[in-house]
Amino acid sequence: MAQQPWWRNAVIYQVYVRSFADGNGDGAGDLIGLLEHLEYIASLGVDGVWLNPCYPSPQMDHGYDVSDYFDIEPAYGDLDIFDQLITRANKLGLRILMDVVPNHCSDQHAWFTEAVAAGRGSKERERFWFRDGQGVNGELPPNNWMAVFGGGAWSRITEPDGTSGQWFLHTFTPWQPDFNWLNDDVVDYFDRMLRFWFDRGVDGFRVDAVTVVGKHPDLPDAPSITGAVAETDAWAFNPYTVFWPSAHDAWRHWREVVNQYEIDHPGRELVTVSEAYTPGKPDLLLRYVEPDQFHQSFTFDLLLSPWNALSLHKAAARSYQALHDAGATLTWALNNHDAHRVVTRYGRADAHLTSSWTGSNLVNSDAPVDLELGHRRARAAALLILGLPGAAYLYMGEELGLPEVLEIPDSARQDPIFARTEGREKGRDGCRVPMSWTTDSVNLNGFSTSSSAKAWMPQPEGWGSFSVEVQDYDCKSMLALYRQALSFRVDMVKQGEAIEFVGDGTDGLFSFTRGSYAVVVNTSAEAVEIPHEIMVGRKLILGSLPEAFSRVDESSLIAGNSAVWLG
Ligand code: BGC
Repeated sequence: MAQQPWWRNAVIYQVYVRSFADGNGDGAGDLIGLLEHLEYIASLGVDGVWLNPCYPSPQMDHGYDVSDYFDIEPAYGDLDIFDQLITRANKLGLRILMDVVPNHCSDQHAWFTEAVAAGRGSKERERFWFRDGQGVNGELPPNNWMAVFGGGAWSRITEPDGTSGQWFLHTFTPWQPDFNWLNDDVVDYFDRMLRFWFDRGVDGFRVDAVTVVGKHPDLPDAPSITGAVAETDAWAFNPYTVFWPSAHDAWRHWREVVNQYEIDHPGRELVTVSEAYTPGKPDLLLRYVEPDQFHQSFTFDLLLSPWNALSLHKAAARSYQALHDAGATLTWALNNHDAHRVVTRYGRADAHLTSSWTGSNLVNSDAPVDLELGHRRARAAALLILGLPGAAYLYMGEELGLPEVLEIPDSARQDPIFARTEGREKGRDGCRVPMSWTTDSVNLNGFSTSSSAKAWMPQPEGWGSFSVEVQDYDCKSMLALYRQALSFRVDMVKQGEAIEFVGDGTDGLFSFTRGSYAVVVNTSAEAVEIPHEIMVGRKLILGSLPEAFSRVDESSLIAGNSAVWLG
C-alpha cells in the first residue's frame, strides 16, 4: 500500500496566538511565548500546529482583518522570530500551518486605502466590490445583503473630494472589505502569498470562510426570507454568495499552485484545510475535498451535534459515508475559536437536544451548566474523535478541559459580534480566554512573563485549577487522557481508515469497529451492555473514566457518559 501523506491521519493543535502564551509581558500572547511552549505541544503527541492569523492587523476581528499578508503582526513578533519558530517546531517533529483569509482583508490594507483614494471606476476599486448606492443620491445600499456579524453587508465611503460616495461589500464587518476574486490581481496576490510562506517552511494553511468567497457578479438582491430568522443568521440564506460556485475555480487554482510547489520542492508535502460549515449536507462538504481542491475540509457535523448517540451516529456516519466512499479524508474537531467550548456545551441541561444550539454564530442555549457532567462527556468525546479515521484538530485548552467563560463583563468584550449586534449576541470571547499554565495568579496563571500584565481578556477566578501544572502529573486528568489517547492512536491509525458502524445509536451507544479495534461511546446516563459482536475477542485498551476500566472487564458494561477503546 502506498504511504499515506502525513496529514491524512494527523492531529493538529490549534493555537489562538493572542491567548496561548505572552512572551513579552504585554498581556497578549505572541510568537516568543509560543516558541517557549513548543515542548509542551510536542509532549501531547500531536503532528502539527495551526496558528490563527498572526499577520499585521488592526485586530478588529483579532487577525481576521489582515492589513499585510507578507509579514508578522508587530505585537506578536517579526519574521525572524517566525523563522525560529518553524526551525524549533520542525526539530520537535511539529509542522506549522498558518491561517489564510481570502474572502476579505482589513480596511487598513494598502489596496483598500488605495482603492478609496483612486476613485470610481479605477482598477484599484476593481479588486473589491465597490458599487453606487440606490436612491436619488445613492444613499441606499446597492442590495439587501446582510453581514454575518450583524447589520447590512455594505458601507458607504467618503470620496477623496469629501462627498458621500460609493458603497463597498463586507460579508463580515465594515472593517473587512471583501475581495473580488474575479479580479486577476487578487488571484496573483494570493499565489504569491502562499509561496512566500511555503518558502519560509510553512507546511499548509487553514483557509478561512471559503463558502462566501464566490459572488454572483451582478450582486442581485437576496430572496426574502420566510419565517423568523435572527439578524445574524440572515446572511446564510443568501444564495448569491453562500456556496456560490465561482469560488471553486479559486480553490482549483490553489491546488495547482500547491501541487506545483511540491513538484518544484521534492520532499515537501503540503496541506490545505477549508473552513466550510455544511451541516447535514455531506454532498456539499464533498465538493471542497474533490481531488483538485482542498486536501481536507472540517467535518463540523460532530461539533454541531447534541450529546446523544443517535445524533452523533448520524453526524459521523453520513460524513464518513460521503467522504470515505469518495476516497476523501475526514477532518474532525470538537472545538475551535468560534464555538462555545465542548465542556460547557455538553454540560448544558439540554445538551442532548438539537435545540441546545441556537443556530446563531455557533452559540448555545443558556440552559444551566453542570461542569462536572460536561467534563465527563468531553472526555468521552475526546476518545470518539481521536478514534475516528481521518485527521483531528484540537483547540488549545481542550486538553485541559477548559470551560467556556460565560461571565465576561460587557466592558471587556472584544468580539465584533458583540458590538455589531449592540450586545444582543455575546460573541466568542469566552472560548478565547488566555491559557492556564500554572496556579500562580500573579502572572496570569503562567500566561504572562510579567507580574504586572493585564490579560487582554480577563481570566476568571479559579482558572489555575485547570492549569497544565495541576494536571501534568495527575494520571486521572484530562491532560493525561489526551496524552494517552494520542499515544495509543498511533496503533489505532494502523488499523486503516475503514470502519463499520454497529447499531444506529438508539440504545444510547455510538459504536464502530476499526480493524481489530472498536470504539464505544455511551451517551446515556446509565451503564449499558456492550453488544457481544463488539466485545468478542477484544479487551479494554483505554477508557475515558478511570472507573470504566473494571466495569468493562468484568461485565461488558460501559458506564454512562463514557467511552472506551477496545482491541
Ligand atoms: C473565522 C472567524 C472570523 C471570520 C471572519 C471565520 O470563519 O473562523 O474567527 O471571525 O471567519 O474572517
